[in-house]
Amino acid sequence: MSVTTTETKSKDLMTFKAQSFGDWRDEFHKYGCCVIKNVISPERAQYYAQKQIEWLKKFDLGFDEKDESTWTAEHLPVSFKGGMYHAYSAPHEKMAWEARMEPAVIEIFEKLWETNELISSFDGMNISLPKRKDISWSPWPHCDQNQNRKGMQAVQGLLNYAPNGSNDGGLMLMKGSAKLFDEFFAQKRDSYDHEDAPPPEIEFMDLFLFNSKDVKWFEEKGCELIKVNMDPGDFVLWDSRTMHYARFPEGDQIRHVQYICMTPRKFADEEALALKKECFEKWVGTTHWPHCNIRPAAEKPMRNGEVCPKDRTEPFEKPEITDRLLQLAGVKAY
Ligand SMILES: [Fe+2]
Repeated sequence: MSVTTTETKSKDLMTFKAQSFGDWRDEFHKYGCCVIKNVISPERAQYYAQKQIEWLKKFDLGFDEKDESTWTAEHLPVSFKGGMYHAYSAPHEKMAWEARMEPAVIEIFEKLWETNELISSFDGMNISLPKRKDISWSPWPHCDQNQNRKGMQAVQGLLNYAPNGSNDGGLMLMKGSAKLFDEFFAQKRDSYDHEDAPPPEIEFMDLFLFNSKDVKWFEEKGCELIKVNMDPGDFVLWDSRTMHYARFPEGDQIRHVQYICMTPRKFADEEALALKKECFEKWVGTTHWPHCNIRPAAEKPMRNGEVCPKDRTEPFEKPEITDRLLQLAGVKAY
């Protein structure tokens, strides 16, 4: 599948009137991020966490959630940064679509964008096992919006399934950084100004990697780097211009997350919709972007220099295809 992107736009896709909403939107518009509590019940969150564990075991690589000696790469499907799963048709597993279609999840994006006509990204999930000694990890502060795209063009989110405290792996956000995006990029910036070479996924993801000086720049402007602590069933939203990364887990808790992002269908052009349809029909994932930047995640998962023998091109458990699902996939018009 060829890699195609839609045109880079350089303005806000929607303007919000200065107003008080009296809900989470006030905090979101002020800081570019917010946590929304109890979007699904703890029982429902537990169901999804269990489904994720079952998914890991379906690969038959010897992973056992009760035996920490199996919490290594050889017993797990191939992931990015120690737990992000985008390959193996994971974005189209029934559990991923069920999470996207939770009424309270859709309602968040309906309120945010003030429309019911939404399309969803085909984003991955994160299952991060703590106490892993077989992977090295370093912070990778980045934003998922290309500097040529100005204004608020996408808002990312994740639905959290397991207890997530200060010591657990989870989302780090530079609170307030979205508003400084244009000011930051008004100066020439080198996205690969790092000691380590960027991982190959960086190019695919079309993101900007910040260095330690950049982190300081935002902090000196009054932003605060925070670890987002969450209870099972909570949802966090962040403007894609926000600097963020995932903290490596140091406690005992497995991190269970589904990344979810929706934007208005009207933001997408015909080319983007055609690419989405192709991705959907081939059970291929995308980046966080629902309406543009549709770069099909068709890269094969690589294990020891070869395509993982467990690679697959369809979900283990396919979603139930309904009109509503096809609308969210961008395949069916509203
Ligand atoms: Fe990101």
